[in-house]
Amino acid sequence: MSARPHIVLIGCGKMGASLLRGWLDHNIDAEFSVIEPHDIDIPGVQHFKSINDAAKSLQTASTIILAVKPQAMLNVCNELEPHIAPDTTILSIAAGQSLNSFADYFGSTQPVIRTMPNTPAAIGKGMSVAVANAHVTDEAKVLVTTLLKTAGKLEWTDDESLLDAVTALSGSGPAYVFYLIEMLEKAGIESGLPAEMAVALARQTVIGAAALAETDHETPPATLRENVTSPGGTTAAALKILMDGRAQNLFTEALQAATARSRELNS
Ligand SMILES: NC(=O)c1ccc[n+]([C@@H]2O[C@H](COP(=O)([O-])OP(=O)(O)OC[C@H]3O[C@@H](n4cnc5c(N)ncnc54)[C@H](OP(=O)(O)O)[C@@H]3O)[C@@H](O)[C@H]2O)c1
Repeated sequence: MSARPHIVLIGCGKMGASLLRGWLDHNIDAEFSVIEPHDIDIPGVQHFKSINDAAKSLQTASTIILAVKPQAMLNVCNELEPHIAPDTTILSIAAGQSLNSFADYFGSTQPVIRTMPNTPAAIGKGMSVAVANAHVTDEAKVLVTTLLKTAGKLEWTDDESLLDAVTALSGSGPAYVFYLIEMLEKAGIESGLPAEMAVALARQTVIGAAALAETDHETPPATLRENVTSPGGTTAAALKILMDGRAQNLFTEALQAATARSRELNS
């Protein structure tokens, strides 16, 4: 591997573009190429419209990031296979594509890392979990760690089977929080607030609580909750209802459904 790694991003849509922005904003010391059919206007990045156009450039890639939709993956991998060097690390951010499925495309000794990011990656507040196959070198892992950490927090796991539950919790999780904002807004209106005020209060309350959880990251969430709850007060009255087990059961059921769906999509 050369001193300055060559990173090739295939697919510069929502996720790919967010990741690329993070790498450029963080001045990652690497050469970047992008393969993407649409026009992109990013200074300092080599742009190819197709894998064939990028054939020569792909030979020098230390890491190739696959950021296309899962349904485009088969075509992309088939097109890519003749052009990649055996020691190039493939990093996939696609939901539901197992490490083994990449062995089918590229052979069983190609280094492959699979990661599940989430949409707050677009603003550097993402949560990613990554798993590597046995052929990924420590050096490649360090590089991928640097790349993924520009998008937020990163956890490595050795157990790929966890990725279904990871998808259910942090992958889909931002949607649950947005739904919480919607529910608070609706409940606020039903408690007598004007609609505009209810949405403003619901949104800012979630933003503020999340920011407190971030600032006080060493304080357990239960303690943060208890800090807002005076005995016999208004919060206690609400939590008596919210914490009677029904909400917990719903979340457990929802995550189980998402985990099962992820398993189905993977099989
Ligand atoms: N968005 C999320 O919340 C999220 C979260 C976690 C993981 N992911 C994963 O991230 C991946 C990308 O998702 P996304 O939402 O960023 O999708 P997206 O916005 O559709 O971006 C994919 C890009 O790849 C382009 N593309 C298609 N075929 C290509 C090819 N052969 N060569 C080069 N580029 C090609 C697409 O062009 P066209 O539009 O012309 O097809 C599009 O610009 C998915 O696998 C998804 O599972 C997404």
